[in-house]
Amino acid sequence: LKKKIISYMRVDDRVVEQLKQDFDVTCFYNHEYLGDAAFDHALQEADGIIGLALKVNKQLLQHAPKLKVVSNVSVGYDNLDIEEMTKRNIMATNTPGVLDDTTADAIFGLLIATARRIPELDSFVKEGNWNISLQPEQYGLDVHHKTLGIIGLGSIGSAIAKRAHFGFGMNILYHNRSRNKEAENTYSATYCELNELLENSDFVCLMVPATDKTKNMISASQFKSMKSTAIFINGSRGKNVDEAALYDALVDGEIHAAGVDVYKEEPTNKDNPLLRLHNIVTLPHIGSSTIECEYNMSKLAAENIKKALTGCKPPTLINKQVWEG
Ligand code: GLV
Repeated sequence: LKKKIISYMRVDDRVVEQLKQDFDVTCFYNHEYLGDAAFDHALQEADGIIGLALKVNKQLLQHAPKLKVVSNVSVGYDNLDIEEMTKRNIMATNTPGVLDDTTADAIFGLLIATARRIPELDSFVKEGNWNISLQPEQYGLDVHHKTLGIIGLGSIGSAIAKRAHFGFGMNILYHNRSRNKEAENTYSATYCELNELLENSDFVCLMVPATDKTKNMISASQFKSMKSTAIFINGSRGKNVDEAALYDALVDGEIHAAGVDVYKEEPTNKDNPLLRLHNIVTLPHIGSSTIECEYNMSKLAAENIKKALTGCKPPTLINKQVWEG
C-alpha cells in the first residue's frame, strides 16, 4: 500500500508526476482548505504534505493523525508551528540554498526598479508621453557606489551583498543575529547596530525570517531614523513591517521610496492604501519565482518528503530533534 501525500499549492507538475510513482498523491490548488470536505478527508489519511504556505497549526494537526512530514516549497517557514510539530514527532523541511541567487536577483531588481523608477517610466512611454520632456522630479537616484544596509545577512542576504559589492561598487552595512565573517571578508561588509545601519544607509534591505521577535521590527521610529533620501526594500515577510507606518513614511517624505515584495496579508487587497502611492514599486511575492527555481525548489521538497517517508533523513530538515529523538 502506497503512503498518502497531499500536494498543496505550487508543486511543479513534473515533480508531482514523479511522486505519484511512489506515493498516493492528492492535489489541492487553492488557499482555502479549512472546512473543505475533500481536504479534511485527505488530511485524516495523509502521511505527508508538500506545498507552499499552508498554515500548519495546532488546529490543522488535530485533523492529521498520521502525519509524519510537512515539506515546505519555500525557505521561510513562518507558516509552520515548529514547536507543535516537534511535540507530535512530525518532521518539517524547507528549501534553502537552491533559491539564493534567484531571490537575490529579484530583490536587487526591485531595488534598481525603485531607485530608477522603471515601472513608472515604462508606463510613461507606453502611455505616449515621451513627447513631453521628463521633469527633474521624475528622475531616479543612483544605485552604484551608494551604501546598502542589509538587515538579515543569511545566504540570500549574502547573495545580495555579492551583487552590490562586485557589480555596483556599493558599500555594505549589515545587521544580523550573529556576525558573518565570510561576508565581512569577501564583500567588505561592516557589522552595525540596527540604528546605525538605518541612519547611514541609502538603501535599507530587510531580509530577516519572520519570528515573534521580528514582528513589526520596522515601524515609525525606524523609518524616522532612515535618511529622507533612503529607499526601503522588503524582501522578507510582510509581518516584519508596520504597513501603516510605511504608508506614513512614504507620504510624509520620511523616506524617498519603497520596493515591496511581501505583505501582511497575501494576496494583498487592491484597496491596500500602499498601492495608491507613486513612490512604491511592488511585486506579488515572487522572489524565488522563476521557471528554473520553482522547479529546483519542488525537486528538493520532493526529495525531502520522499526521504522522510522512507526512513531516511531529509536533506534540509528544520526540526532535527524529531530525527534524533
Ligand atoms: C519565499 O518567500 C520563501 O520563503 O521561499
